[in-house]
Amino acid sequence: MDNQSNVIENIKTYYGKTLQNKNDLKTSACCTDQKIPDHLKGLMGNIHDDIVSKFYGCGSPIPPLLTGATVLDLGCGTGLDCYLASQLVGENGRVIGVDMTKEQISIAQNYEEYQKVKFGYKKKNTEFHLGYIEDLDSIGVADDSVDVVISNCVINLTSDKRKVFSEIFRVLKPGGELYFSDVFCDRRIPKELMDDPLLLGECLSGAMYIEDFRRMLKDLNINDYRVVTESPFEVNDADIRNKLGMVKFNSMTLRTFKCDFEDICENYGHVAYYQGGIHEYPNNFILDDHHQFEKGFPIPVCGNTSKMIGESRFREHFLLVGDFSSHYGEFSCDLISNGKYDNPSSGSCC
Ligand SMILES: C[S@@+](CC[C@H](N)C(=O)[O-])C[C@H]1O[C@@H](n2cnc3c(N)ncnc32)[C@H](O)[C@@H]1O
Repeated sequence: MDNQSNVIENIKTYYGKTLQNKNDLKTSACCTDQKIPDHLKGLMGNIHDDIVSKFYGCGSPIPPLLTGATVLDLGCGTGLDCYLASQLVGENGRVIGVDMTKEQISIAQNYEEYQKVKFGYKKKNTEFHLGYIEDLDSIGVADDSVDVVISNCVINLTSDKRKVFSEIFRVLKPGGELYFSDVFCDRRIPKELMDDPLLLGECLSGAMYIEDFRRMLKDLNINDYRVVTESPFEVNDADIRNKLGMVKFNSMTLRTFKCDFEDICENYGHVAYYQGGIHEYPNNFILDDHHQFEKGFPIPVCGNTSKMIGESRFREHFLLVGDFSSHYGEFSCDLISNGKYDNPSSGSCC
């Protein structure tokens, strides 16, 4: 067996056989203490305990405004995020889950009928596939066919991360969104630590160095991404800690869009007004940890941010003033912090 196949078999064994539920995890990496957003709490209650007890996510990668959307969950496990999304996309939306571990995906599959009835749907809107997230073609996910790709604590486990991201941007529609939670770290972890089933299975040794993630996206022509939440965590088990050295870990929820971004924020004089109407954000729309759009309040935005809101499914909820005909130099944070737009809600990508 080559090294890559060995890594894959170790993960299947870890999630299919070693772990029976989240109490069996040895560290908090796969289950960091991330708050469940308020709008999802009620929806969680509709999901069967057998699914919830085997949830190994490190965040809550469920973005707003999903009605009618096609959502693809990479490494869906027993399907908790899929069943949350199922309730949000509605009966006419579509949720596709893919996972390579038979024991995990079969639980998601076994509860499809139960969850359909629980959600009050006449027809199910979920489908679950046993497969690899590096090869979405083999489970029939076509080019430009998905509105939102989500993933929760999975990509760190893969040995060919470039292939995973290249598949994501193949299947996303233009303007579609990647919104995912994963474990990242502050340096490159020696590759051989991926051979340790415990370090890998606990979502530690495969964690991406955040600057390599940025480089990989750039290589795929995706030149901007945003941090939605980040939550550093400690590894307390002394044996595990000793093997990993001084690496610092961070559980992050990130988002980006299939848009033609520039490599830094440039100023074309765009101004954005959130107009409301997104159920999850009645008063203020949160794009990332630096962009909060209070309803009706003008916020200057860089060209990349204007594309994130103007070319995505969020466009109908914004009044976006400006175009790309004139360039005013690099986008400056001073426009927000010192200028007349100074506002308690921040609004820059700086
Ligand atoms: C930490 S668990 C997270 C599961 C699920 N997202 C959740 O939040 O409960 C990681 C999952 O990713 C799956 N996985 C890892 N690598 C994969 C790959 N290359 N292709 C498909 N699934 C993969 C594993 O089988 C496992 O179910």
